[in-house]
Amino acid sequence: MLFLDHSIVYIYTMSTILLAIESSCDDTSVAVLRNGQILSNVVANQKIHESYGGVVPELASRAHMENIVPVVDQALKVAKIEKNELSAIAFTRGPGLLGSLFVGVSFAKAFALGLNIPMIEVNHMQAHVLAHFIDDPKPEFPFLCLTVSGGHTQIVKVLSYFEMEVIGETLDDAAGEAFDKAAKIMGLPYPGGPLIDKYATDGKSEAFTFSKPDIANLDFSFSGIKTSFLYFLRDEAKKNTNFVEENKADICASIQKTIIDVLMDKLVLAAKQTGICHVGIAGGVSANSLLRKEVERVGKELNWKVFIPKFEYCTDNAAMIAMAGYYKFKNKKFANQDITPMARYKM
Ligand code: KG4
Ligand code: ZN
Repeated sequence: MLFLDHSIVYIYTMSTILLAIESSCDDTSVAVLRNGQILSNVVANQKIHESYGGVVPELASRAHMENIVPVVDQALKVAKIEKNELSAIAFTRGPGLLGSLFVGVSFAKAFALGLNIPMIEVNHMQAHVLAHFIDDPKPEFPFLCLTVSGGHTQIVKVLSYFEMEVIGETLDDAAGEAFDKAAKIMGLPYPGGPLIDKYATDGKSEAFTFSKPDIANLDFSFSGIKTSFLYFLRDEAKKNTNFVEENKADICASIQKTIIDVLMDKLVLAAKQTGICHVGIAGGVSANSLLRKEVERVGKELNWKVFIPKFEYCTDNAAMIAMAGYYKFKNKKFANQDITPMARYKM
């Protein structure tokens, strides 16, 4: 006769269904995950910042407040999941803009309390790295991840899902900030990174040169490039007021190449120094077409196994928060109701 322990049957047949919330900067995003598979990933962009040349924190938190309920509803609808099926709520605790984080954290707390389910706090920068585990093929530990976004530029030695060591980072501006500031100097709207990428397609990257930082270790610096770019355009504009308009593609291709070269040089050095050959890129700037090409090209030359997330998992998204939340859920790493957001949050 076969006896079944019903509690065990229950555990093994029950799905893990997570709702994840990302609100660290200017994108309100909600994802639903079932057993490690992303069922939906809805992102509401905030167009309001375009004309200000950067994210305005007060406007960002107000827009999150308006967006959060419809984005949650849409994510559940796309995933065909009812609220009462959720196992837990994952959310970004930081780093990010405090007002923006507050909206996501407060919503997660209320939702978890109302549904009587646990909460999982997620570090946004760890989540960018864990975006590599959304789809196959997945990297093996240890691997290196170049995480490049609007707020961060890091080379991370990833030892396990939650053991990550930052072995190089920027001393001043982030790579995405360098792209956005260069675009702003050219008179392009925020965020300028994707526009520089787009205009660069028709340009010659060797047309203009800008001074690069001279740092021996794995750290980065982008403020010198920005100054060199600013002075160059200012001097050229004195001679020809239409200089930027007439040379847009070449300027974009040249500044893009300068920034990507700096990133690639350090990534190559990090791989040499650590002997690690599984290498990934993550964060908003990993959507850049030249960076994606260069990692593939250099990776082939140096026998790396290269990992590049899909475009939608490079820029800020809740799917990566769901993925990070899933690994924490499996380890029962839950947060308390008294948790608060952290603008600065080391990984
Ligand atoms: O990771 P992310 O979406 O948000 C932050 O956590 O900061 O990154 C946003 C950054 C912005 O600076 C944006 O200009 C840059 O990523 N970015 C790009 C591209 N797409 C987004 N930079 C260069 N080329 C792109 N295609
Ligand atoms: Zn980010």
